[in-house]
Amino acid sequence: MKEFTLIDHLEDLDAESKYLVHKAKEAALHAYAPYSKFMVGAAALLDNGKVVTGTNQENAAYPSGMCAERVVLYALSAQYPEQKIVRLAVAARRKNGKDLVPATSCGPCRQVMLEFEGKQADPFKVVMLGPDNRWVVASSAESLLPFSFSKSNLEHGHNTSGHE
Ligand code: THU
Repeated sequence: MKEFTLIDHLEDLDAESKYLVHKAKEAALHAYAPYSKFMVGAAALLDNGKVVTGTNQENAAYPSGMCAERVVLYALSAQYPEQKIVRLAVAARRKNGKDLVPATSCGPCRQVMLEFEGKQADPFKVVMLGPDNRWVVASSAESLLPFSFSKSNLEHGHNTSGHE
């Protein structure tokens, strides 16, 4: 399977992605981002058809804040621990701006996506707006994080390199 598909216009995304981007965009309106004014929403579609949304949550003590992606992932895990994620979309806007701006998930969010993908043993698609204003549809969290560190690294005797 192709790792990434790039789509020029939102209207040309598949229906499920478009719907999730719409949900993420709507969620972004209620982001708590008084410091950066960069409002991010994330929407996840679960196996049971539910859509869970999240927004970035900032804090006066800056590092205590959290990205929209991790907010939605932790929330859905708490609310629907048994459900698999089918697709995750991210959408960002500037405060009072009506247009979407590019937001490709940060490294730590990709790492958390990878953990969730490993846990459910099924890939999920990730949809986000790339730096050139094209929509990126990644076929899996793994595709967004090559040479990653995961649970398998911690397993006793793990050695895929052939070197001790
Ligand atoms: N942010 C997200 O929520 N998701 C991203 O993909 C990129 C960055 C948030 C973190 C912070 O609240 C603000 O955007 C500026 O970095």
